[in-house]
Amino acid sequence: MKIAVIGSEGQIAHYLQVRGRAHGLSVFSAGRPEVDLTRPQTVGEFLDRVEPDLVVNAAAYTAVDKAENDSEHAFLVNATGAGEVARLCSQINRPLVHISTDYVFDGSSRTPYVETDAVLPLSVYGASKAAGEMAVRRALVENIIIRTAWVYGAHGGNFVKTMLRLGAERPELGVVDDQRGSPTSALDLADAILQIAPRLVANSDAALWGTYHLTGATETTWHGFAAEIFRQASVRGAIVPRLKAIKTAEYPTPARRPAYSGLDNTRFVSTFGFGLPDWRASLASCMSELMPVSFTEKVA
Ligand SMILES: NC(=O)c1ccc[n+]([C@@H]2O[C@H](COP(=O)([O-])OP(=O)(O)OC[C@H]3O[C@@H](n4cnc5c(N)ncnc54)[C@H](OP(=O)(O)O)[C@@H]3O)[C@@H](O)[C@H]2O)c1
Repeated sequence: MKIAVIGSEGQIAHYLQVRGRAHGLSVFSAGRPEVDLTRPQTVGEFLDRVEPDLVVNAAAYTAVDKAENDSEHAFLVNATGAGEVARLCSQINRPLVHISTDYVFDGSSRTPYVETDAVLPLSVYGASKAAGEMAVRRALVENIIIRTAWVYGAHGGNFVKTMLRLGAERPELGVVDDQRGSPTSALDLADAILQIAPRLVANSDAALWGTYHLTGATETTWHGFAAEIFRQASVRGAIVPRLKAIKTAEYPTPARRPAYSGLDNTRFVSTFGFGLPDWRASLASCMSELMPVSFTEKVA
């Protein structure tokens, strides 16, 4: 079975490539400049070359704050580009897994969002991703839209790596404790997509298609996430900073983020029979990739 992944350097795209063989799947990925969502013909050429059984769009304009002043570009990639990928999949009659985000919600809920809850993005990025979801649904029936959140991994830029870098530079760090969500390992997400791929390709159940929420299990705040990162880093021998809980108002950013973005994973779990591990356990795997304990430390 062949899977074509759009985006090769992104966090999730990286692990789709790395983990493909372990799932017995052939993963072909391509990113810019060869395949560019703003130039749909490059996507078409890639799909013609690979002749995939399944397509995964793991590329997106993900610079949440920058998007506030770069709306046209964000929509071109995340909305028009995503829709074009779906249209091309429809032409070759292949299913598409498209990745979306918790930032399509406004965060006013006090309970985990379900797939049918109304989207109300607070940011340009969130709006461009919500428009991308709609464009995908319009162009292709055989779509799986996976909304995820707070993605981290050993590859690429993310909160874990930013915390470790800042923590090594500063004695004290302030991190917001009034935004709640679920950290999600890029490796776990890639494994989940590869695990469900054979069922999607078999295409024997029309009820499979549609939107799913999939995040690491359990919720925390950015402050709670940082505290666990530094706890695990300190176990690995790192000098860690003092951590201070601050409010969103004390750390203004160009883009507004939802105060609450828990996503209810029930539909995914009941459809595919598994969910993702607790984020703390997955963070430990990421930390062992980022900060391997040396042989002498292990022996000691
Ligand atoms: N990161 C998160 O916390 C998070 C949370 C929820 C949902 N998501 C969603 O998860 C998906 C993957 O996120 P990620 O964190 O793995 O992404 P990422 O690490 O930020 O990587 C995004 C990739 O998209 C590529 N890209 C950007 N514009 C492109 C274009 N015009 N054509 C082709 N490729 C382009 C980038 O290419 P270059 O390498 O050339 O820049 C980059 O490799 C995205 O749909 C994102 O919206 C992410």
